[in-house]
Parts: sequence; structure tokens; C-alpha cells
Amino acid sequence: MKVDVLLGLQWGDEGKGKVVDVLTPNYDVVTRFQGGPNAGHTLEFNGEKYVLRSIPSGIFQGNNANIIGNGVVLDPVLFKAEAEALAASGHDLTKKLFISKKTHLILPTHRLLDAAYEASKGSDKVGTTGKGIGPTYTDKVSRNGLRIGDLLHNFDTKFAAAIARHEVILKSLNYQYDLKPLVKEWLEAVEYLKNFGLIDSEHVINNYLKEGKKVLAEGAQGTMLDIDFGSYPFVTSSNTICAGACTGLGIAPNKIGEVYGIFKAYCTRVGAGPFPTELFDETGEIICKNGNEYGSVTGRKRRCGWIDLVALKYAIMIDGVTKLIMMKSDVLDAFETIKACIAYKIDGEEVTEFPYEINDNIEPVYVELPGWKCDMTKMSDEDEFPEEFNAYLSFLEEELEVPIKIVSVGPDREQTVIRYREE
Ligand code: GDP
Ligand code: IMO
Ligand code: MG
Repeated sequence: MKVDVLLGLQWGDEGKGKVVDVLTPNYDVVTRFQGGPNAGHTLEFNGEKYVLRSIPSGIFQGNNANIIGNGVVLDPVLFKAEAEALAASGHDLTKKLFISKKTHLILPTHRLLDAAYEASKGSDKVGTTGKGIGPTYTDKVSRNGLRIGDLLHNFDTKFAAAIARHEVILKSLNYQYDLKPLVKEWLEAVEYLKNFGLIDSEHVINNYLKEGKKVLAEGAQGTMLDIDFGSYPFVTSSNTICAGACTGLGIAPNKIGEVYGIFKAYCTRVGAGPFPTELFDETGEIICKNGNEYGSVTGRKRRCGWIDLVALKYAIMIDGVTKLIMMKSDVLDAFETIKACIAYKIDGEEVTEFPYEINDNIEPVYVELPGWKCDMTKMSDEDEFPEEFNAYLSFLEEELEVPIKIVSVGPDREQTVIRYREE
């Protein structure tokens, strides 16, 4: 068997959590391969709403295993809060959630460093989620990180050395902090991790594949936030692209099966950085309001704009997407016309390949399509789709050269339409 990968093609918050939950009954294992509690994956079903940060979105359906892979960075304090809240609502994870021993730990000082670095950047700040993601991955790459497996051997010495090293940096940045309560809370939380299976996940996952089990890898963030191919430096610190599933789980490239690329019918971005199709007018406000575009982790207002096919094609190319999933179709219900950016005009020239530099020089070139002007939220079958909506789907499929297999028409699990028609 192969691992199917589901990942975001834009700047995150495409609706990955919702769709992973919908697809979970088809899989034996759901696993996260990168990112950490910077993610906020929202699931709605049976009138309940859950936001997952580090825990895979496969935990609610069936008895499948859920694995936090080696490519993830984990904050024990936030993880404990997340797992305890789920347990309190009747979802005990101790038998179905496993964590790679190679997963790196976010220390309390990583969070402080994240804040200190952002403060020192002034107006150039990235607008991070403040969860310590960058400093933790920095320590991983510079071979100074602490892994979950370290909990089992000589942990106290390694922890003290890391904290001491971080304090030197924090002091050099003149950052004020009170570490004692943070360390106390962190050390309590780290003990809690031992309630879960701490595993050699690369062996476990490859053995599952050998046994014919079906594995779904759940991405966090989105391709345009990838450390290599995103809008650097306004990116996160991991490989959010499909290749990240190989390094973040320990699976070979030839073990990747379907690649589900997920995008909104428009575009959003939270935090700083370029966004060529961003709208600063009433249309942008309507999308924000109708889409309830506020960060599920930070509550920050998301910037909104029309769909950007230049960026989307780039993401599809980098990820090798085989099936597309379009989210939040209902958010565009009200519009007379809908715009899609098909090229960028840079210094008078039209460009269709996503360029190295994204700055204020870019003017999006739009095509305008008729809106569908009807309520999509109750639709459960593609035969109910209005003509204009089908025309929008066909236009996108022609431009993107990948079939759109799932359409989401609302936040609830049930508001999901699978398209069976042959492309
Ligand atoms: P993720 O990080 O990719 O999992 O996405 P988020 O959960 O951060 O953001 C997606 C938001 O859109 C959540 O609040 C979802 O409940 C909501 N959502 C998902 N699909 C749809 C949809 O088709 N229509 C509407 N209106 N909301 C949706
Ligand atoms: P999900 O998985 C949207 C953004 C931050 C910031 C940049 C770097 O819910 O789609 P970081 O804290 O990672 O160092 O921040 O990346 N960012 C996200 N934006 N959705 C996310 O996750 C994000 N995770 C990080 O806003 O611009
Ligand atoms: Mg999110």
C-alpha cells in the first residue's frame, strides 16, 4: 500500500481538518508529518466544534491509529491541554494516539525566543503564531534539539543545557521574561506524554503499509508557507509540501499514493507577507464576514482575496497533486460575479509562472465569471449544483489540469459533496 497525502495549497486554513475527518473512515491510520501547534484544524459534526492543533484529525471516526510523526514539533503544555479537553468531552486518546520518539519538543524558551525574535524585527515581523515553531526547528537543524525519545535517557541534563543556551540569547535580545512558572508547567506536562505510545513511527508506518493498511498523511499550514517554496521569509519553518511527508514520516517517495490538494474557492492569508490578490475593499470584507475568516489559533483576522491560479498551479506542480478539493464554495454564494487571477502583470509583462520575487509591483490579471447567487449550504449531491457553479468548477479544472473530486459547501462534516462524474 501507499500513503495518501492531504495538504493545503494556499497559505493555510484551507479546511484540511474538516476533510481529513470526512476521509478518515477510508483509512486505518491518520498521521501528521510536520508543523506543530501553529496549526488550528477545525472540525464540526453533530452540533459540536473542535479545534485540533497537534493531534491528527482522524481521532473522531472509527478505531484507527493516529500518529504524530517525527517531522512534527510538539509543545507538551499545549498537547496536554488539547488531549485533556478531548478526554473531558469523551474522546480518550491514550489507546489510539502514538507519538514518534523522533518528534522534537518545543521548550518554554522556544516560545520566548519566538516572541523575542519577532519583537526585534520591528515592522519586518513575520507575524508568527508565537508558538515557538521557528526556534524549535532551528534547534533541530543546528543539532541542538530535544526529542521525545530523550525523555527516556538523561533528560534533565539535556533540558538544563538547552534552557541555559536559550537564556543567553534571550538576555542578548534584552527580552524580559519569567521562566520559572513556565518550566514548572512544562515539566509537569512532559510527564503526561508518557501516557501515550512513544514509538519508532517510521518502522510502524512502513510495517502498516506492508500489511496492506491504508495510511493518510495530514498536512499542516499550506504550500505557500513552505520553508523552501513559500513566500520566504514570510513562511513557517517546515516543509509543508508533499515531499515533507517523506521526511516527516520516514516513507520513501515511491510510497506516496494519491495527493489531495485542498484550496478555498477564494484565498486567505494570516500574518504578514505578500498576497497578490488581496482585496482591501468591501468585497474583501464580505468574504471575511461570510467565511468567518478569523484564525482558529490566534483569532487574528485573515486577509482575504480572489483565488490566485498562478500560485495554485505552482503549488500543484510542487506537490504533484492528483486530486483537488475545493472548500468554502458557499462563501461566494452572494456574488454577482467571481474573479480568478490567471496571470500577474509585472513591469508591463504578463507572467504565469510564480515568480521569485513577490512585491507591490505585481498586478493580478483577472477573468470574471458569473456567480451562482444561490444557497449552496444544503446541497448534498453534484446534480443539485447550479449551472454557474459547474462552470466555475470546469474553468478551474481546465486551468489547473487536475480534477476537483470533493466540494465543501459548509463547515459541517455532512456539508461535503463527493463528485463521481468522470472528468
Ligand atoms: P485548516 O487549518 O486547513 O484545517 O482550516 P481551519 O480550520 O483553520 O479553517 C477553515 C475554517 O473554515 C474552519 O472554521 C472550518 O470550520 C470552516 N470551513 C471548512 N469548510 C467550510 C466550508 O465549505 N464552508 C464554510 N462556510 N466554512 C468551512
Ligand atoms: P493551519 O495548519 C495559517 C503562518 C503564521 C505566520 C507564518 C509563520 O491551521 O493551516 P509560525 O508560527 O509557523 O512560525 O508562523 O505562518 N501560519 C499559518 N497560517 N494556517 C496555519 O496553520 C498556519 N501556521 C502558521 O500566521 O504568517
Ligand atoms: Mg487552520
